[in-house]
Amino acid sequence: MSVHNPDIKRVTTHTIQELKNKGEKISALTAYDFSMAKAVDTAGVEVILVGDSASNVMAGHETTLPITLDQMIYHASSVVRGVKRALVVVDLPFGSYQGNSTEALRSAIRIMKESGAHAVKMEGGLEIKDSIVRILSAGVPVMGHLGLTPQSIYKFGTYAVRAKEEAEAQKLMDDAHMLEDIGCFGLVLEKIPAALTKKVSESLTIPTIGIGAGPDADGQILVVHDLLGITNEFKPRFLRRYADLHTVMTEAIAHYVDDVKGNDFPNEKEAY
Ligand code: KIV
Repeated sequence: MSVHNPDIKRVTTHTIQELKNKGEKISALTAYDFSMAKAVDTAGVEVILVGDSASNVMAGHETTLPITLDQMIYHASSVVRGVKRALVVVDLPFGSYQGNSTEALRSAIRIMKESGAHAVKMEGGLEIKDSIVRILSAGVPVMGHLGLTPQSIYKFGTYAVRAKEEAEAQKLMDDAHMLEDIGCFGLVLEKIPAALTKKVSESLTIPTIGIGAGPDADGQILVVHDLLGITNEFKPRFLRRYADLHTVMTEAIAHYVDDVKGNDFPNEKEAY
């Protein structure tokens, strides 16, 4: 049963700031299609991220790198059609903003214009500051993403916890403050030590949303297919599974196969 606040008619960037200000945790989940977005929105999640994790979850790629801007716009517009209440944030995919700020602005504008989403998310700190500033100056809200940034997986080499060493933790803290200072409305912190999340979240005014970042972020996000157990091989320590839909789905489908083969489907009532 959801405990979402029925007084919130439409979640905006201001709403999630207010949630942080009054100490209420922010719930966020991914979605990539109309039906799932409708379920996530109806359940009361405040922020729906059309993540580039669609590259893994929907398309079966090993990394987030292959997904294109056109594909992200397709997923995002499907999600937007299913959402009445949540704030819809869309990942700018790898290669659509790292080149220069003009390209970044063009990509962000395409997402906003063609999908109807409400904000974009970008991975990185100082290296992409110019692009973020340019997008913000066009009136597009930007969410930052620090810590484990999967678009840089070939630079990191592994999906291990980031910022365990002092130098990387200090850079993350500096980047977080820079993102707040230039006007980002929120910040995803992925797979960093819980103590660092607490420090960053307490020292920022804008809300942090954690994944594998401990309990002290201002909100939490998971990939919805992981939470529902649709994906059944990805088992990181930070993931809590709330259902085993892979088993539910395969059992239901196997039942259907039996019924078709046994001439039990369709029956008389199911025929015209
Ligand atoms: O793409 C994604 O799903 C994400 C979340 C894991 C934060 O960036």
